[in-house]
Amino acid sequence: MDEGLNTRYFQVDPLKPDGGTLVQCGQIIRQGGLVAFPTETVYGLGANALDGEACKAIFMAKGRPQDNPLIVHVSSFEEVVDLVSAVPETAITCMERFWPGPLTLVMPKSAKIPAQVSAGLETVALRMPDHPVALALIRAAGVPIAAPSANLSGRPSPTLAQHVMEDLAGKVDAVLDAGACRVGLESTVLDLSEEIPTILRPGGVTREELTDILGKVRFDPGLSNPDVTPRSPGVKYLHYAPRGEAVMVEGTPENVRRRIALEVRNAKAKGLRVGVLCTGESVEFLRAAGADYLAELGSRLQPQSAAATLYEALRECDSRGIQLILAETFDKTGIGTAVMNRLEKAAGYRRIVEK
Ligand code: TXA
Ligand code: MG
Repeated sequence: MDEGLNTRYFQVDPLKPDGGTLVQCGQIIRQGGLVAFPTETVYGLGANALDGEACKAIFMAKGRPQDNPLIVHVSSFEEVVDLVSAVPETAITCMERFWPGPLTLVMPKSAKIPAQVSAGLETVALRMPDHPVALALIRAAGVPIAAPSANLSGRPSPTLAQHVMEDLAGKVDAVLDAGACRVGLESTVLDLSEEIPTILRPGGVTREELTDILGKVRFDPGLSNPDVTPRSPGVKYLHYAPRGEAVMVEGTPENVRRRIALEVRNAKAKGLRVGVLCTGESVEFLRAAGADYLAELGSRLQPQSAAATLYEALRECDSRGIQLILAETFDKTGIGTAVMNRLEKAAGYRRIVEK
């Protein structure tokens, strides 16, 4: 894709997007172009999923490694049949319960899926997003849309159109701005191509919710152990990384607060610019510590608010030139599992344990 492309920017109503704008963007997709669009999780960078060349342009715009397959987005159940070689019973159960929604299903692919999309694998990842603009764009394009998160590879995923513009202005044909993404972290990727359904990436739909309808569901062991290669190619890259060094601080809430305040003072004494990501419960205490940037991610009892604000806070650290980021941790239950997965990656698994 050419640098210095004139990226068209459209602001649309998230619930009732303008029909004319969607027709234009649908046409760009059909003609092989790239359109960034909102979903309920994060912004995606879309291309015609049936056009291998168009999908290749996604990799170039993002600087994405070629071996990392793309998620294909559909707007109806009917579209799925053509894209897979078999629909496992478990997939139907999941689609009925969670689509549209933040759940991506990995299934055996059909011949219609270009090699660029599946990155040479025999499977394809499918999802129906729960966002009126995303669904309307897929319908307007008349084809399924392949879309990774609309960030430069390695940067935190975009939860605002402004983040997309920071990373991709001049590299994509159009950006559809419908405001903030509701969930704020990427979809759960669930592999249904093998005996036991396996979560390759935790996300908006929790393991607890999946276990309720599927029975046994396991996490890919590569998710929590940095020495085991994850099964989902994208998960192995140093994703979600801010430019500064991030460190998680674990322990009882009181000890964590005190330790973070101490680390802030030590780092300031060394002349570093310091950021703190904390819970609502700790924010008053930590205000006194004098960090250069203090982001409140919400109550520790409501990890969905941390999910919705984490990436924006990481990007803010970058734009403020933060060199050290100290982060409180969350319980690994519900969507807290996904929040902690992204924090662990942002921190490269660095942690201070303050019992
Ligand atoms: O919420 C989301 O999923 C967002 C929005 C735009 O839909 N998309 C997204 O895409 O996060 P991306 O490309 O950033 O992450 C896709 C993940 C990667 O880890 C990739 O390796 C994995 O899904 N994936 C895609 N196809 C796969 C396949 N056939 N088998 C295993 N993993 C796959
Ligand atoms: Mg991504």
